[in-house]
Amino acid sequence: MANIKFLSGENIPLEMHKVRMVQKVTLLPVEQRVQCMREAGFNTFLLKNRDVFLDMLTDSGVNAMSQNQYAAMMQADDSYAGSETFYRLEAVLQDVFGMEHFLPAHQGRACENIIAKVLVKPGTVALMNYHFTTTKAHITLNGGEIEEIIGEEGLKIQSNEPFKGDIDIDKLTECIKRIGKEKISFVRIEAGTNLVGGQPVSMSNMREVSRICRQEGLTLVFDASLLGDNLYFIKTRDEKYKDVDIIDITREIASLMDIVYFSARKLGSARGGGILVSDHDLFLKMRELVPVYEGFLTYGGMSVREMEALAVGLRETMDIDVISQTPIIIEALCNELLSNGIPVVTPPGGLGCHVDAMEFCSHIPQTQYRAGALAAAIFIAGSVRCMERGTLSEQRNDDGSENLAEMELARLAVPRRVFTLSHVKYTADRLNWLYQNRRLIGGLEFVEEPHMLRFFFGRLLPIGDWPENLARKFRDDFGDSL
Ligand code: F0G
Repeated sequence: MANIKFLSGENIPLEMHKVRMVQKVTLLPVEQRVQCMREAGFNTFLLKNRDVFLDMLTDSGVNAMSQNQYAAMMQADDSYAGSETFYRLEAVLQDVFGMEHFLPAHQGRACENIIAKVLVKPGTVALMNYHFTTTKAHITLNGGEIEEIIGEEGLKIQSNEPFKGDIDIDKLTECIKRIGKEKISFVRIEAGTNLVGGQPVSMSNMREVSRICRQEGLTLVFDASLLGDNLYFIKTRDEKYKDVDIIDITREIASLMDIVYFSARKLGSARGGGILVSDHDLFLKMRELVPVYEGFLTYGGMSVREMEALAVGLRETMDIDVISQTPIIIEALCNELLSNGIPVVTPPGGLGCHVDAMEFCSHIPQTQYRAGALAAAIFIAGSVRCMERGTLSEQRNDDGSENLAEMELARLAVPRRVFTLSHVKYTADRLNWLYQNRRLIGGLEFVEEPHMLRFFFGRLLPIGDWPENLARKFRDDFGDSL
């Protein structure tokens, strides 16, 4: 995206790329959308893509790739061991992050499995700005616990704090005192903090956390899956970095960490994942697990074609025109919603636009999944598929009671370079209509509830016939329009 002045004075996002390959999408009538939602058990994960108009479920593995990424795929060197592709990717990663060793894995959660297996012992606690669902699952599967030490602003829906993903340093030192460093498995910083609205972490905070970890002998792990967005925000929100090259910001961050891992379904707009580490002992411990869980060390469960695409995608991530596209589109969507009084997480972050279902659906009890109900209603209203990030994404407490989430968000993810401004305007329009009719949205209840990560496969039913009422109102207001 470029900062181009328009005659009108309006600030319109302008793409610094052109589209040369397209995919047809369909928009089903509202009555069929209700039917699809019923068949999907009111869980947007279970919708079929063919029934979805705008797939804003996630930015994971669905980013548009560049012509150079596709071209690179053609030179992939297929080999079980010693693939040239591996050495090309390793060289790019070493250059971009300035770290010594690279271990490949098939995606981000596979890295989390390896890290947790090496660092987490039963009874230990991992401290982090905020958890991600799969991160927490791997830590608890290994007998550990997590404690979140994000700053207070991070959990406020509306804020002017530019780096809401920052760790609260007082909480960090308090935890170290209370828990004891021998019981802390690691400290984790998540770039572009996913579950609180794609909120970035500041360089000064990372520096301070790193200083404390080094002083206390604690391992600092950095989840770089959403690093692209975070880099953009450091460059644009921190005066000190406005003239610093993106690659130098990346190297500075990596120099503060002991382990860096990422989902290449996000970072680098490809697929796969990887772990970077400089400490030789840690490298050896994690290396043992790669062939057990992932594949041989020179592919780690990734296809060599994806590895080539990732190598190019990582280089392209160092280009401000590339990483600015998503945050600027997200900002446009958030501003459009805010101007209609719709509550969204502010300041706009990376990854997507996060609608505050706690307030949007304040008439629904939180135990009836406000954000889940809103996600289903958004699909009915516009055939836009978003993701619940609230109580439904939490695991029940041991006594069976609900673990009510601090935030109830419906996340409209914006995959990189996929949607146009008219898609964004359409989405905002249907949300605006839905907000005016929000009282028609009702709650949900489980009919099939898996024990772990229940949001993936769980099936629910609406309480009452609100989906049909919503569709009827849509027809009244929009007539024959889809
Ligand atoms: N860490 C973060 C911050 C993530 O956002 C994700 C995935 C992972 C780790 C796991 O990576 O999917 O490659 O195994 N987030 C996706 C999302 C699924 O939709 O937000 P993965």
